[in-house]
Amino acid sequence: MHLRPALACLLFLAGIVSAFASREKPVIGLSLDTLKEERWQRDRDTFISEAKKLGAEVIVQSANSDDTRQTRDIESLITRKVDVLVVVPHNGAALGRAMKSAAEAKIPVIAYDRLILNAPIDYYLTFDNVKVGEAQAAYAVARLPKDRKARIVRIYGAPTDNNAKLFKQGQDNILASLIQAGRIEVVHEDWALDWKPENAKKIMNAAVTKAGRNIDAVVVSNDGTAGGAIQALSEDGLAGKVLVTGQDADLAACQRILRGTQAMTVYKPLKNLATLAARIAVDVAKGHKPATTATLDNGMKQVPSIFERVISVDKENMAATVVADGFHKAADLK
Ligand code: BGC
Repeated sequence: MHLRPALACLLFLAGIVSAFASREKPVIGLSLDTLKEERWQRDRDTFISEAKKLGAEVIVQSANSDDTRQTRDIESLITRKVDVLVVVPHNGAALGRAMKSAAEAKIPVIAYDRLILNAPIDYYLTFDNVKVGEAQAAYAVARLPKDRKARIVRIYGAPTDNNAKLFKQGQDNILASLIQAGRIEVVHEDWALDWKPENAKKIMNAAVTKAGRNIDAVVVSNDGTAGGAIQALSEDGLAGKVLVTGQDADLAACQRILRGTQAMTVYKPLKNLATLAARIAVDVAKGHKPATTATLDNGMKQVPSIFERVISVDKENMAATVVADGFHKAADLK
């Protein structure tokens, strides 16, 4: 007669113990848009190594810039009962269904680097993306000719990436009044689908065809697409003659900066963000509420957020920034 309640009690206790065990060794699902660009491989590696130090396991999925695949990836992580999801969305507006499944399964979601829009996510950890755009435009503006109207090309990132819009917003903060005052003319502008270098190359080719060789600067939103634009410029003998901006401090971009075909990049200390994200993911998996420093509206809610600092880098401060930080070895930059 008394066995049943005793058994129930035992099962209940076992339940608590196993839930506790899973929290002691949380499983984190990391869903990435892509691993094609150098930065995301670093993000992944740092994240995994920090998570391991904290006793967590990480299951990584990469969607190869495909929304359907990313939804499937996230749903498979939910089925595998991860304790927390960390997501870099390919398309910030296309993960509604996957986010709904996560909420139903009571799995907290951390948006990493890129915001997930109109979804019940829990945290957003990123760099100050508006500042990235401001740094790119400010660098170019400071070096544009002042004795005549400067002619610039603008190459934005993927229109499906909320960050690409924030980079543009930051650039607009610096450029808009100068364009309005007639000091700068934007001779061509376009968005590089999926941040692909080949798309940026096509935009740059189109710019030269349309506006001619008389271009002072190309404000490009990241290093991958800067590489594409510079390829187009070099076909026209213009590489090194036209100022080109970037972002990410990719190895190839830092080499181009030292060789003079790219002017600057924006260094984002990925180690800080990825380490922070792993710590917060583990904390959240254990049921804690990590402290944040800001909130951002994602269209559905004010998402508790953290924005990390970014650093403008050119050949003058390369050694004092990316090299001193151990991001690249001086020998690799030659
Ligand atoms: C990231 C950049 C990256 C770009 C392309 C953006 O969301 O913030 O660092 O270069 O995506 O992957």
